[in-house]
Amino acid sequence: MLEVAYIEGGPVLRGVVRAAGSKNAALPILAAALLTEEVVTLHGVPDLSDIRFMAEILRHQGAEVAQPRPGTWVIRAATLTHRTPYDLVRKMRASVCLLGALVGRLRRAEMAIPGGCVIGPRPIDLHLRGLETLGCAVAVEAGLVHVDATAARGIEVDMGGPMGSTVLGTANLVMAATLTPGVTRILAAAREPEVVDLCTLLTKMGARISGQGTGTIVVEGVAALRGCEHTIIPDRIEVGTYLVAGAITGGDVTVEGAEPAHLEAFLAKLREAGVGVETAPGRIRAFGPPTRPVDVVTAPYPGFPTDLQAQFMALQLRVDGRSTFTEKIYPARFMHAAELQRMGADIAVEGAVATVHGGKPLSGAPVMASDLRASAALILAALVAKGETWVQRLYHLDRGYERFEERLSQLGAAVRRLPANAMPKDLRED
Ligand code: EPZ
Repeated sequence: MLEVAYIEGGPVLRGVVRAAGSKNAALPILAAALLTEEVVTLHGVPDLSDIRFMAEILRHQGAEVAQPRPGTWVIRAATLTHRTPYDLVRKMRASVCLLGALVGRLRRAEMAIPGGCVIGPRPIDLHLRGLETLGCAVAVEAGLVHVDATAARGIEVDMGGPMGSTVLGTANLVMAATLTPGVTRILAAAREPEVVDLCTLLTKMGARISGQGTGTIVVEGVAALRGCEHTIIPDRIEVGTYLVAGAITGGDVTVEGAEPAHLEAFLAKLREAGVGVETAPGRIRAFGPPTRPVDVVTAPYPGFPTDLQAQFMALQLRVDGRSTFTEKIYPARFMHAAELQRMGADIAVEGAVATVHGGKPLSGAPVMASDLRASAALILAALVAKGETWVQRLYHLDRGYERFEERLSQLGAAVRRLPANAMPKDLRED
């Protein structure tokens, strides 16, 4: 059933919220459970539609997947099929990270090539080039990619692309290399904390990995991996989103269970914008409204995360002056700009650069979510818009945020989740 978020702008957000586990760590880690026939138990897994969908795909591959209690998943992949059909892959691009796990475990895979999504084309050429360098036979036909790793041997693999490193491409090559004979040196590897968390899990499973978190990851193949137990790292993008929720309203929000080291570039930009930021082990506090315009340029970790670009754009709508947002990862990731303009925002998009002239009053309006992070940005802007805002297509939000409106309400926001038909007919666009 379609749902909408109904927000009345105005309240100042104050209080403490707890971070959930990282979606972008949990997805490749769920796939990695296929690398062993023994039981893998995961804790701190966020309750998101993308996670539930990945569990469905693992079941399709032949794994037993159980959720004995909220946040805990138990996976046992005794026997597996190497085929992953299009109707599963097309619904979630991140399912591409199954490729490395299936190639690792079964030495072959046959997977539909994921399509694009609203934030831009989502190619996997670097994934396939990396597997070919590893010695896999890779063939693409009729929208399917066939990978045969019979002849794969450890070697130096450069994963660098035009936009820098690839997060899931690195995850795929690491997973494939754990059970590939020889030593694989992955150059231009992604340094994201989510990749490090995957490597932590794989090491617990008996993989021999070093260099995770740097640009060069070295994997020495082993004969088999064993089961293990692991707790997922906190979701740094969700943490950043709640910090913006506090700052945009001029409030004071602390996120517990957050890892400040995972958000250094983002926190530096918050401070540059005049927001108060305090950190301690496991917690981050943001207080006071932004007062200064800033220039944001997204980059691979440890640079400013593209997944927080839309949220920061909403924040800067509050600040007099010109703020710019340059997208070096997904040049077209500005779907939220058009919707924010409907609320009165002054944003001009020229190619990969969005220029915001902030400080203008925002007014509530019916708007449309387009992708996961854009939907969060619309809700953040609605918190400080005059009047009522309806955000439609809330399923985008549920892909990456656990009970977002509930947690914002706990911080004092006037936000409710309603069935789509609660929205006045003349405002609906769906
Ligand atoms: C991961 O996607 C995240 N998803 C994305 O988060 C995130 O935006 C992205 O990394 C960048 O940080 C998950 O981890 C599940 P990439 P991924 O491969 O791995 C180009 C969210 O909101 N590229 O690092 O698919 C690509 O087009 C999602 O949670 C190639 O050219 O991203 C992009 O411009 C959205 N060829 C850049 O590299 C390839 O083979 C970075 O992409 C692969 C990627």
